[in-house]
Amino acid sequence: MGKESDSNTKNGAGEFKLVGFNNFVRSNPRSDRFTVLRFHHIEFWCTDATNTARRFSWGLGMPIVLKSDLSTGNLSHASYLLRSGRLNFLFTAPYSPTLAASSDNAKSTASIPTLDHSACRAFAASHGLAVRSIALEVQDAAQAYSVSLAHGAKPSAPPIPLSSDGAVIAEVQLYGDVVLRYVSFGNPSRDPDGFLPGFEKMEGTASYADLDFGIRRLDHAVGNVHELAPMVEYVKGFTGFHEFAEFTAEDVGTNESGLNSMVLASNDEMVLLPMNEPVFGTKRKSQIQTYLEHNEGPGVQHLALASEDIFRTLREMRQRSGVGGFEFMPSPPPTYYQNLKNRAAGVLSDEQIKECEKLGILVDRDDQGTLLQIFTKPVGDRPTLFIEIIQRVGCMLKDDEGKEYQKGGCGGFGKGNFSELFKSIEEYEKTLEAKSIADPAAGAA
Ligand SMILES: [Fe+2]
Repeated sequence: MGKESDSNTKNGAGEFKLVGFNNFVRSNPRSDRFTVLRFHHIEFWCTDATNTARRFSWGLGMPIVLKSDLSTGNLSHASYLLRSGRLNFLFTAPYSPTLAASSDNAKSTASIPTLDHSACRAFAASHGLAVRSIALEVQDAAQAYSVSLAHGAKPSAPPIPLSSDGAVIAEVQLYGDVVLRYVSFGNPSRDPDGFLPGFEKMEGTASYADLDFGIRRLDHAVGNVHELAPMVEYVKGFTGFHEFAEFTAEDVGTNESGLNSMVLASNDEMVLLPMNEPVFGTKRKSQIQTYLEHNEGPGVQHLALASEDIFRTLREMRQRSGVGGFEFMPSPPPTYYQNLKNRAAGVLSDEQIKECEKLGILVDRDDQGTLLQIFTKPVGDRPTLFIEIIQRVGCMLKDDEGKEYQKGGCGGFGKGNFSELFKSIEEYEKTLEAKSIADPAAGAA
């Protein structure tokens, strides 16, 4: 990277300063410090992987496809992999510490050798159900690790070979107790349905292979931090990722959002890492501050999952909200959808706008495309981690071979919905004599 002097993020004194959405000039310096291929997986550290994996499988329509546990000879931890399209969610919990300590080979049977039992237990106690790793597939994990360290990354786990055919895992600290995990595979002819070495196919009734609500990939993984400036500099510094978008509390025309946000992107802008910081002095306490308190520090706030058909995904997910699936934030008032007819004209049909209203889907646009989005309520006990389901519309490009693909981040991240929701709720409340009945859906980044 090395665009340290980007004028859009620094003032004359060299101090980092957000300039706001409208003043932000987007450019792609293609400054990655190592070759990043894609988001590979997200790992959740749990106290019981079986139950957590099954709840997410049912709620998101992601079959449990692979396992690494006692039945596969792993005496160290239970791990289950859920997959939908290219989205991989891994749920991991450690086995008995006493048994693990008493068996010489327990650690050597771990399929994720970076797992540290005491760190995993302390993590669950401190954060509850939370994301431990954002894993990127890179060309060469050992090289990504050494380059990262040379540019300021704090180490978490040095490169470890996972197999004799060149698979490697390594980890550096991201924010809080979250690590950025690098995985690489030396064998180009490996099984495309495979994952990491040591995982075996889930068979029998535990995996319902036909389960599919249309979720296809991870679009972005958002972190909440105490202070944005040093964290952006840290992550930019060791990855080389560039600033893709930002917005400040002032952008939304009201301070009610309670956050400042910056999105970092890889060269192809398909790995998107937004980060938020709280702002203070507003009427309502910042939701980011609430997160930081309940999570005991920085961590992953939400995971945005891209659907190929958000209407279908939402119909399926909402059917299961009350029976073990995920619940959603309150839907916007009817005024939001009346205003949407103007905002989404030419992109969404009247029929589609009706479907958005029925399912509580929010719509935003940027200068290039349209974003359809909706947020779940927090997925666990604490008001911390939640999930966003999105579909991006527009920005189709052609690659060198003439194959169509969608530009990363098309339609933005939902910044406009802060002000739209605020406005439509105010309008709606004027039509009612009763007190406020709805809160703006929170957390877009
Ligand atoms: Fe988001």
